[in-house]
Amino acid sequence: MQKQRIAIIGAGPSGLAALRAFESAERAGAAIPEIVCYEKQDDWGGQWNYSWRTGIDQYGEPVHSSMYRNLWSNAPKEALEFAEYTFDKHFGRPISSYPPREVLWDYIDGRLRSSNARDKVQFATAARWVQYNEATDTFTVTVEDLKTRTTSSSEFDRVIVATGHFAYPNVPSFEGIETFPGSVEHAHDFRGAEMLADKRVLMIGSSYSAEDIGVQAYKMGARSVTLSYRSKALGHDWPQGMEELPLVQRIEGNSVHFINGEVREFDSIVMCTGYIHKYPFLPSQLAIDSPNNVYPSGLYRGVVWQENPKLYYLGAQDQWFTFNMFDAQAWYVRDLILGRTALPSVQDRAAHIESWSKRFSELSCVDDEVRFQADYIRDLIENSDYPMFDLDSVVEIFIAWQRDKAENVLTYRDKQYRSVMTGTMSARHHTPWMRELDDSLQRYLSQPEKDEIAKMLDDEDVTESIRAN
Ligand SMILES: Cc1cc2nc3c(=O)[nH]c(=O)nc-3n(C[C@H](O)[C@H](O)[C@H](O)COP(=O)(O)OP(=O)(O)OC[C@H]3O[C@@H](n4cnc5c(N)ncnc54)[C@H](O)[C@@H]3O)c2cc1C
Ligand SMILES: NC(=O)c1ccc[n+]([C@@H]2O[C@H](COP(=O)([O-])OP(=O)(O)OC[C@H]3O[C@@H](n4cnc5c(N)ncnc54)[C@H](OP(=O)(O)O)[C@@H]3O)[C@@H](O)[C@H]2O)c1
Repeated sequence: MQKQRIAIIGAGPSGLAALRAFESAERAGAAIPEIVCYEKQDDWGGQWNYSWRTGIDQYGEPVHSSMYRNLWSNAPKEALEFAEYTFDKHFGRPISSYPPREVLWDYIDGRLRSSNARDKVQFATAARWVQYNEATDTFTVTVEDLKTRTTSSSEFDRVIVATGHFAYPNVPSFEGIETFPGSVEHAHDFRGAEMLADKRVLMIGSSYSAEDIGVQAYKMGARSVTLSYRSKALGHDWPQGMEELPLVQRIEGNSVHFINGEVREFDSIVMCTGYIHKYPFLPSQLAIDSPNNVYPSGLYRGVVWQENPKLYYLGAQDQWFTFNMFDAQAWYVRDLILGRTALPSVQDRAAHIESWSKRFSELSCVDDEVRFQADYIRDLIENSDYPMFDLDSVVEIFIAWQRDKAENVLTYRDKQYRSVMTGTMSARHHTPWMRELDDSLQRYLSQPEKDEIAKMLDDEDVTESIRAN
């Protein structure tokens, strides 16, 4: 019998989870299908594959990653740890709970470094179109090799979409914004807060991007930071110089009017207004059309496209859990493809979707959402051989993390958590996050005697010269 052919589109953490899932079955002696993974960037890692570029990349493609130079994990790493490749295994010693971007890229990369997964990935190759052929029950996938600018098409039995959903910015408009004399950018294009030093900065939005870019701006010496919320304020105990106001009503020159009648002057605006699901390589019958939430419609068990169960999505949900959720999804999809798990009938799938949709519609607070996602992952793991882990303890970590942020949004990244996979307590990072100005892997893993700022403050001459300037 001819081998099945599987296309994976995207080699971010979700696409890599799929490669790892098949690899682990192969290592255990199973025959696996022929796999081709298309990745439009030159390397894997998805969002974690940082680029200094904004807008259009070297191939004329929209830049994918929304990450910035000084991005650190915004939740404890103990909540995202792979169940079958732990931080202890990768780093050989405890590391802190909130590593910077480069350290997490290294962890993701390390899991596959000694495998043959790279041979299955066609880099600098963008999926252009996916066509389902009813007569043959196959998909024609058309891709472009971005280096040679040639397109080609191949047939696949199944397609796994793993292209993420935080790459196409949602950019609202506000009355008068066209004449705002300062800078206006979306978080997707934000690369570092240094340029916000001494600026009066407005973040529009009240979720993770607004919170973290706001705090980054504060850290880098912004004169003031204001966050503007539409639905609900973050409500942290903000330090002096940071505040939250309701939605922007209109802008006149540098003055921004808020709907509660307050007016402030700004030099820079950063739209932290989220992202849209967009799949330009899919016909509308196969594409998710959903806001960013934990249960996007149209998917059985959050991964199987109900209208065509040979098309799968990984990582399409809003994310409390990340890497280990992508693994749970990938292992389940792999087992469907390998025939180890039966796909229920269309009616049974619809009933399953219906019951989870009902529970989703009844979620009333953040803790409910986290528990919902934990139960969702449990349901997937129970249907595959991915190692089950203590999801309830991870829920507790998420709840404690929320509390840490509410207490002090500037210091929560200095807190330590215990791994539910290994029992290891995380290390204390050598430098408090607010003082750490070097986000590199090398610096993170080093053990300096003093941090740079402490050193500077100890050095009278330098201190004097800073004062003089
Ligand atoms: C600013 C930001 C910060 C974040 N911080 C954290 C954090 O601290 N902790 C955490 O756990 N999660 C964080 N996340 C969540 C992040 O979404 C996940 O960690 C993870 O990267 C999602 O993996 P993914 O593979 O589903 O998608 P992505 O990481 O987005 O990867 C998708 C891949 O698909 C490729 N691709 C896209 N279109 C095509 C195409 N047409 N053809 C071929 N390839 C294509 C892209 O190049 C990319 O490599 C953050 C997200 C953002 C946006
Ligand atoms: N590691 C890090 O430090 C870090 C930093 C940034 C982002 N991230 C990750 O990036 C992902 C995306 O986060 P995100 O904050 O960019 O997106 P998000 O969580 O989807 O939040 C979007 C925000 O934009 C607001 N918004 C949307 N349209 C608006 C409008 N027209 N006017 C005013 N406000 C509007 C939303 O308000 P409503 O609530 O009213 O809808 C919401 O507050 C998350 O997974 C997050 O974890 C991580």
